[in-house]
Amino acid sequence: MGALDGKVAIVTGAGRGLGRAHSLTMAAEGAKVVVNDLGDEAEAVVAEIEAAGGEAVANHASVSDWEATEALVAQAVDTYGDLHVVVNNAGILRDKMSFNMDESDWDAVVDVHLKGHFCVSRHAGVYWRNQAKAGATVGRRIVNTSSEAGLFGSAGQANYAAAKAGIIGLTLVFAREYGRFGVTANAIAPRARTRMTEDIEFFKAPEGGEDFDRFAPENVSSIVAWLASDAAADISGQVFIVIGGDVHLFRPPAVEAAIKKGERWSIDELVASSGELFGDKGPGLPPMAVPG
Ligand SMILES: NC(=O)c1ccc[n+]([C@@H]2O[C@H](COP(=O)([O-])OP(=O)(O)OC[C@H]3O[C@@H](n4cnc5c(N)ncnc54)[C@H](O)[C@@H]3O)[C@@H](O)[C@H]2O)c1
Repeated sequence: MGALDGKVAIVTGAGRGLGRAHSLTMAAEGAKVVVNDLGDEAEAVVAEIEAAGGEAVANHASVSDWEATEALVAQAVDTYGDLHVVVNNAGILRDKMSFNMDESDWDAVVDVHLKGHFCVSRHAGVYWRNQAKAGATVGRRIVNTSSEAGLFGSAGQANYAAAKAGIIGLTLVFAREYGRFGVTANAIAPRARTRMTEDIEFFKAPEGGEDFDRFAPENVSSIVAWLASDAAADISGQVFIVIGGDVHLFRPPAVEAAIKKGERWSIDELVASSGELFGDKGPGLPPMAVPG
C-alpha cells in the first residue's frame, strides 16, 4: 500500500532536479504521474517510473502557456480518469542585480514561476470545481514551490524573489478559494542539489557516501508526497522550508507588533514610539535564510 495509491498527479518541470525526484517518489507511492517538462527529459523520467513498475505519461506544455496547460489538465483526466494532485515546480533563473536586470530577465522569470503556477492551478481548479458540483467528494491537492529567496529577499534575484513571494500569495488564495471544494494548497521552499545549485560548494554531496546526503532532491519529495496524500487533508495555506531532514514551518501572514492611537499620528510621535513597534529585534533587515 502506497500513500498515493489511486491518485493522479501532475508534476511540472519534472524532467530533472526536484520535479524528477517528486515524480519518482510519488509514483513509488502509487500515484499515476503526468511528467511535464519542456524537453525530452520528461520521457526519460516516464521510462524510469515504468521500469520501477509505476505508471506515467509525458507532457511538454510550457507552464505559462494558457491553452497548453488547459490541455495538460485534460491529458491527466483523459489518460487516467481523474486529477487529484498538482505539484507546481517548474522554474528558471536569470540572476542579476536589479540595476543590471533588463525587461526580458524580469518577464521570463515572472512568467514561468508566477504565471506558470497560476495557469496550471487555474485549469485544475475549473475541473475540480465542476467535479465537486457533480457530487465528487474526493480530496485534491496543490503543492507549490516557493523559495527562501521569496520569503527573505535575496540580492541578485529581484525577478525570482518577487515571483516566489507572489507564489506564497497565490497559495493562500487557492487555499481559501478552492478549500470550499475540497482542495488544499500548500507551498514548500526547498533546498536541493540540482542544475540550479550544483556549482555551489554548500550543496556538494558528502564524500564517502556514508553520511546523510542533505541536499539530495528526494529528501524534499517526501514532504511533497505527504502533502499530496489523504493524511494531509487538514493542512492548507501553509509554507514549509525543507532542508535535508529539517522541516520548518513558515507562517506568512503574522502581525508581530502594533502601536495604536485611535487618531492620526504625527511624525514626531512616530519617531518617539517606533521603538515599541520594532522591540528588541530593531528595524534592521531580517536574516536572508533559515540558518543551517
Ligand atoms: N534547487 C534548490 O535549492 C531550490 C531552492 C529554492 C527553490 N527551488 C525551486 O524548485 C523548483 C525546481 O528547481 P530545480 O532546482 O529542480 O531546478 P532544475 O533546473 O533542475 O529543474 C527545473 C525544471 O523546470 C523546467 N522548466 C523550466 N521552464 C519551464 C516551463 N516554462 N514549462 C515547463 N517546465 C519548465 C526545466 O526544463 C527543468 O527541467 C523551481 O521552482 C526552483 O525555483 C529550488
